[in-house]
Amino acid sequence: MTTLHDKVASSVPTGLDRKESEVYRRLDPTRLPKHIAIIMDGNGRWAKRRHMPRVAGHRAGVTAVRSTVETAARIHIPALTLYAFSEENWKKRPKSEVGFLMGLLSRYLKAEVPTLNENNIRLEYIGRQQELPEDVQERMAWASEATARNSGMVLTLALNYSARSELVDAFRSMVNAAAQNGGIEHLQIDEEMVSRHLYTRHLPDPDLVVRTSGEMRLSNFLLWQLAYAEIYVTPTLWPDFRGLHLLEGIAEFQKRERRYGGLNHHEPNGDGRAAIAISAASEAKS
Ligand code: FPP
Repeated sequence: MTTLHDKVASSVPTGLDRKESEVYRRLDPTRLPKHIAIIMDGNGRWAKRRHMPRVAGHRAGVTAVRSTVETAARIHIPALTLYAFSEENWKKRPKSEVGFLMGLLSRYLKAEVPTLNENNIRLEYIGRQQELPEDVQERMAWASEATARNSGMVLTLALNYSARSELVDAFRSMVNAAAQNGGIEHLQIDEEMVSRHLYTRHLPDPDLVVRTSGEMRLSNFLLWQLAYAEIYVTPTLWPDFRGLHLLEGIAEFQKRERRYGGLNHHEPNGDGRAAIAISAASEAKS
């Protein structure tokens, strides 16, 4: 018997290649993540293995960005956030590498706007943009303005980003808003209010975070927003990462059971039996 799931699953979005289509057919298109965040890591190691300078890894990383962004848009992921440049990168890496990354970003933005528009992608940023070089800030503003009318996927680049700085900025912003609006003695902070003052107020929290190159750390990335996210770590180094790897991460995400601290939906009295049956059934399906 053909189920609704089989029917939906058989329609592969246009633009996926053969291997991507194969993985996509195994997915449940009604349970795709709404927001995927990616910690792009391993550029330096990729270059080292090839006896190339570190910056060659960053340059190769742009191809991975392009492939990942296009595949995510083609399968209609509503939001994708890429950790491109942390506050720590800015402070701790040689000036020459930082300068190279800034140039690479500027060239990427200039070259990519037509493709972003073709794929209906809107570009946004998170991080302390005001500390970046002025010419880079101008290019960033130009690229987000040029894509502002797109209604498909929101691509957010984390640039000069630190989750702790974001929380500091959010608390400052809440106090300032209260001071201008009746005084801080009436300030009542709750989770909803903190979320509204984060850089990511335009986005749902990520439900999947991907980290490349095998490292098991969050590295000061979206610490508040990732509270309930599924974590997918792949040994693939970022420059080798492609849309296919993203789809594999989504397949893994769909095997997980998300409980948000509660019990399995099918486990009303919490004795665990129903949960075991459900996970056995989903094992059989995958
Ligand atoms: C981490 O690899 C990667 C970065 C610090 C930079 C990420 C930049 C890119 C992927 C290219 C440009 C991006 C855009 C959006 C145009 P690493 O250098 O820490 O690698 P390692 O841990 O192997 O040394």
